[in-house]
Amino acid sequence: MLNILVLAAGQGTRMRSALPKVLHRLAGRPLLEHVLGTARSLDPARLVVVHGYGGEAVRAAFPQADLAWVEQREQRGTGHAVREALTALDPAAMVLILYGDVPRIRAQTLRALVEAGRAGLALLTVEQDDPAGYGRIVRACGRVQRIVEAKDASPEELRIREVNAGFFALPCARLAAWVARLENRNAQGEYYLTDIVGMAVAEGVAVATVPADPLETSGVNSKAELAQAERALQACEAQRLLDAGVTLADPARIDVRGSLHCGRDVSIDVNCVFEGEVSLGEGVSVGPNCVLRNVSVAAGTEIHAFCHLDEAAIGERCRIGPYARLRPGTQLAEAVHIGNFVEVKAGHFARGAKANHLSYIGDAEVGERVNIGAGTITCNYDGLAKHRTVIEDDCFIGSDTTLVAPVTLARGSYIGAGSTISKNTPPDQLTVARARQMSVPGWKPPRKK
Ligand code: UD1
Ligand code: CA
Repeated sequence: MLNILVLAAGQGTRMRSALPKVLHRLAGRPLLEHVLGTARSLDPARLVVVHGYGGEAVRAAFPQADLAWVEQREQRGTGHAVREALTALDPAAMVLILYGDVPRIRAQTLRALVEAGRAGLALLTVEQDDPAGYGRIVRACGRVQRIVEAKDASPEELRIREVNAGFFALPCARLAAWVARLENRNAQGEYYLTDIVGMAVAEGVAVATVPADPLETSGVNSKAELAQAERALQACEAQRLLDAGVTLADPARIDVRGSLHCGRDVSIDVNCVFEGEVSLGEGVSVGPNCVLRNVSVAAGTEIHAFCHLDEAAIGERCRIGPYARLRPGTQLAEAVHIGNFVEVKAGHFARGAKANHLSYIGDAEVGERVNIGAGTITCNYDGLAKHRTVIEDDCFIGSDTTLVAPVTLARGSYIGAGSTISKNTPPDQLTVARARQMSVPGWKPPRKK
């Protein structure tokens, strides 16, 4: 049986932020969410999080029922944090300890660590060219003796490049016995979890080390490290897309903050941001500087530069943009054209409908082959409530028309430019609702005296 303990009580002073460190976002998701996601994939019987600084905000961000929370009121070190959490753990379990600020650890590495820990104690180590603030792994005749924290290390120890990545796996009973005996006589006056390694060695318990890749074990302690982690993650994401056959104009200029699924022959130009769940069907092209959030785009659709698409479902062979905005609830069927400076909110466009220039279409049903002229506005809000506009198949809406909802334009309605339509229109007729044009004979322009 496996219990996973995540330490996340630190403030993260070096982030210089009011937000608790583990709530800072990597690829659009809080650091802690990355760690919890990986932890859950190991299917633990218990998943316990130690929180402290900004605890209420941290708990509120993770309302899931499978989490047990332990508060560490004062942050007196990683060993103290574990000691506070012991009562939440099953004494018969294997315990895996993770840090909330090391977001990119992979599940397969953790599985190997848990297996190695069954015999006694296992820790994850990594070779760092610049071991900086990490705890150093001190070995004698190749065997681990103890971990020394950077602030307590001698000059020779500081030269050690094998460091503690911060992950431990061991039986709960051993952990409980050791953390009970930790002391805080060290440079930081903290209870170091890392001191349990020396205790294991003194008792003749086998200490195993599992090697990891620095990419997955780098911690986030500052905004600079957060930015580095973001770039490294995005580089992996871009590589994954390239490997799947997606054409990226520049793999260094794409940001995926969620999951992006692409069919064959998708191409993505520079500076696009994908958030939440986005799927792009076969042959879809996305122009430069687009933001797509929770959007599905069917095969053959072209999205031109500078579009902002949010919670929309787009059919096959559509043409969107440049400069189009699709807001939540938008559904486009096949071969719909939405052109520049057109905003659609909860609008449903049937096959072949077009709104090519400068329009607001909100809460509307737009029929097949409807053509919406430049500058057409649905007046969907009367100051109290939203109302729907229905434009049936084959309507033609002249430029600069306002449609005052609720209103229905029957099939084949032809609306003269500049009309304000506030009553339902009959089918297949021209409807014009505007002041008559007139010219004044004998009129003279004003002259200066
Ligand atoms: C720790 C390790 C170090 C290792 C490094 C890897 C110790 C003593 N040192 O150092 O050997 O190389 O991680 O990243 O363990 N935390 C609490 N309560 C506390 C203190 C910390 O929950 O009282 C949490 C923090 O929120 C963080 C994690 O424990 O998620 C690590 O704490 P941090 O202060 O960042 O330790 P490091 O100095 O990085
Ligand atoms: Ca750290």
